[in-house]
Amino acid sequence: MTIDIDKLEAALFAQLADAQTEAALEELRVSALGKKGSVSELLKGMGAMSPEDRQVFGPKINGLKNALNDAINAKKVILADAALDARLLAERIDATLPAFPRFMGKIHPIMQVFEEVAVIFADMGFTVKEGPDIEDDFHNFTALNFPEKHPARDMHDTFFFEKNSDGVAKLLRTHTSPVQIRTMLNEKPPIRIVAPGRTYRCDSDQTHTPMFHQIEGLVIEEGVHMGHLKGVLMEFLARFFEVETAAVRFRPHHFPFTEPSAEVDVRCDRSGRELKIGTGDDWLEILGCGMVHPNVLRQCGIDPEIHQGFAFGLGIDRLAMLKYGIPDLRDMFNSDVRWLEHFGFEPFVSPNLATGLSR
Ligand code: DAH
Repeated sequence: MTIDIDKLEAALFAQLADAQTEAALEELRVSALGKKGSVSELLKGMGAMSPEDRQVFGPKINGLKNALNDAINAKKVILADAALDARLLAERIDATLPAFPRFMGKIHPIMQVFEEVAVIFADMGFTVKEGPDIEDDFHNFTALNFPEKHPARDMHDTFFFEKNSDGVAKLLRTHTSPVQIRTMLNEKPPIRIVAPGRTYRCDSDQTHTPMFHQIEGLVIEEGVHMGHLKGVLMEFLARFFEVETAAVRFRPHHFPFTEPSAEVDVRCDRSGRELKIGTGDDWLEILGCGMVHPNVLRQCGIDPEIHQGFAFGLGIDRLAMLKYGIPDLRDMFNSDVRWLEHFGFEPFVSPNLATGLSR
């Protein structure tokens, strides 16, 4: 009887050591401690023992039962942990990989074109200036040589604020040209700046919105002439439209603040469904320019006998529409994300001359 218990104990613990799965453990438990298990059978047999034998074997058999039970439970925990570790290892994710949300946000074509234009002019030695959207009559009109009764000063064209206590009304700037005045009043020549920003006029149809965008250019130096103006603008247009040479024409025009003045048209083809730039028999106006009027220079304390300069103003919205084939100006400001997803630009690639402006 003694031998049997020790043998059984050795056999059961050997089996326990071999068990590598929870199923194998369960099988062992049933075969030893289940209703008809080997240890249970020994326990059942105790009833037929003599009281002396029972005193000797009872604790032994019960000890075996408890020891085996504890050992099985302990190994179960170890196997369950190992199984979990294996599963975690197999299902591992690399949290350092970038996530790709469906819509990341895009750069609006207006901002893209502002950047592109600024990059080209920066390369030509221009710095970027800004001025306020809320202007006064002096900077927006008077200093720019607008006559007292000029139609641009009319309520139909300009958004005026209510008059203040002195009877003076501020206005929303109708162009970026007042930044010319602010710059000339604050800085001495040589001056070479561009001024991007928002502008406002009472106007709304397919090609006009009450708020739109311009970029102003101003160069004041000794001996500057119309040839410089032409050279700078042609260089700019070729780089902006990413062509060898820009097909443009300078057409005489009138602006109060420049003399002589011109409008610049680019060659285009409107015969097909889409507008093509650089070829065709048609012309499209894209900017105004001229030599800064001596009255404007004098207003800003610059002697026109010594310093001359040229200025230009470009419609950014129009440039964006032309370059990126955007059909309706008003869609630009509707805040429709589907539109932005289609026409917008990747946020982490800023325009530069090395890799290309619009890539
Ligand atoms: N300020 C003009 C406008 O909004 C555009 C313009 C024309 C600007 C000629 C200039 C310029 O600097 O020289 O229509």
